[in-house]
Amino acid sequence: MKYINKKLTIEKINLQKIANKFGTPFYSYSYSKMKENINSFKRNFKSISPLICFAVKSNTNINIIREIKKFGLGADVVSLGELMMALKAGINPNKIVFSGVGKKSNEISFAIDKKILLINAESLSEIKEINRLAKIKSRKIRIGVRLNPNTDAKTLSQISTGKKENKFGVNKDTFYEIINYCKNSKNIDLKCLSVHIGSQILDNRPYEKMLKIVSQILKKTNHKFEFIDLGGGMGISYSDKNKKLNYKKYNSAILKFLRKHKVKIIFEPGRSIIGNTGTLVTKVIYIKDSGRKKFIILDAAMNDLMRPALYGAFHKTLAVTKSEKKSKKPYEFVGPICESTDKFITLKKFQELKEKDLIAICDVGAYGMSLSSNYNLRLKPIELLIKGSKIKVIRKRQKYKDLI
Ligand code: LLP
Repeated sequence: MKYINKKLTIEKINLQKIANKFGTPFYSYSYSKMKENINSFKRNFKSISPLICFAVKSNTNINIIREIKKFGLGADVVSLGELMMALKAGINPNKIVFSGVGKKSNEISFAIDKKILLINAESLSEIKEINRLAKIKSRKIRIGVRLNPNTDAKTLSQISTGKKENKFGVNKDTFYEIINYCKNSKNIDLKCLSVHIGSQILDNRPYEKMLKIVSQILKKTNHKFEFIDLGGGMGISYSDKNKKLNYKKYNSAILKFLRKHKVKIIFEPGRSIIGNTGTLVTKVIYIKDSGRKKFIILDAAMNDLMRPALYGAFHKTLAVTKSEKKSKKPYEFVGPICESTDKFITLKKFQELKEKDLIAICDVGAYGMSLSSNYNLRLKPIELLIKGSKIKVIRKRQKYKDLI
């Protein structure tokens, strides 16, 4: 996105024009940015030729998944709904991995029937359930086991998953126990060790530590794993101050790992593929002066974009039409929802705004729309895919008749 003649423009269309046509709030995604992200992800890990499974939870729009599929990616899913969506989008079942701590019998059963690449189990009880269902169906099922490596991902505590206090995966001892259990099972084919230590990771050291732990465990067991699934978690720059994840170093650490272990690497990136492609455009409904600051009351709210309310996440916020005139007071950008956490950001300095102006909230392609809700019985926004000068409606704005 850039300003052309003071108008914020995505690919070749200015956001004001899109708003005039489709109303606000809306999510727009840049196709060329998505393409650039996928190609650079592939380039960064070219030497290890991984299977890249897009983490569907980051963006569940079927049209986005369809576009991603065209680049040869598979899918990482965590529920029956996501699995159905990935299949409907045309993702090859042989490129689908199913993660999650609490898969129910009907979800496992469906995954077995669809012959997906791997069910990544997270407990011995789950493996026993897979075994039970596989036996009924007279099948041998490829599974992975998610290891909890007890590694600090050095990210927000709410999105950290690889420490022993987190519910995810199994510890080393259980891992060895599971290997033994699988050896004696006719219906389970233990193919993969999986790990995912957290999200929005910008430091390569936690990944390196995780690889060391995985390597030690592999050395201790003589089980032959075909895949190591390293999860996702690669962070993006939400702010210019963010440092960047050093992909080169991460890739070298994996290459070193592969010299010792002959396995195929799987990745499950979400945010790094789709995060910086998305923008939420919203209109200023009212401006309210509260003395020390002004509330900029927007027509988007925490139900449309939950990250600031849930994690205190920062999203760059821009005026769609640029002006040089500065505001005299700090601006607090809020939504209309009846919660004090329904607030996007407070900015001390911003250009002067007036009612009906448009605001763009940036980098919301991942965990934006997918975390949205109908709280306060508000309608979910329309989603648009921008390709050059073309706009495609990829999800219609919800209607009251869908809700009531
Ligand atoms: N694989 C597994 C098993 C995961 O749990 C996740 C994310 C991913 C892959 C993808 O991670 P990514 O590459 O997108 O970082 N709602 C939070 C993020 C939660 C991530 C949950 N798991 C947020 O808005 O920051």
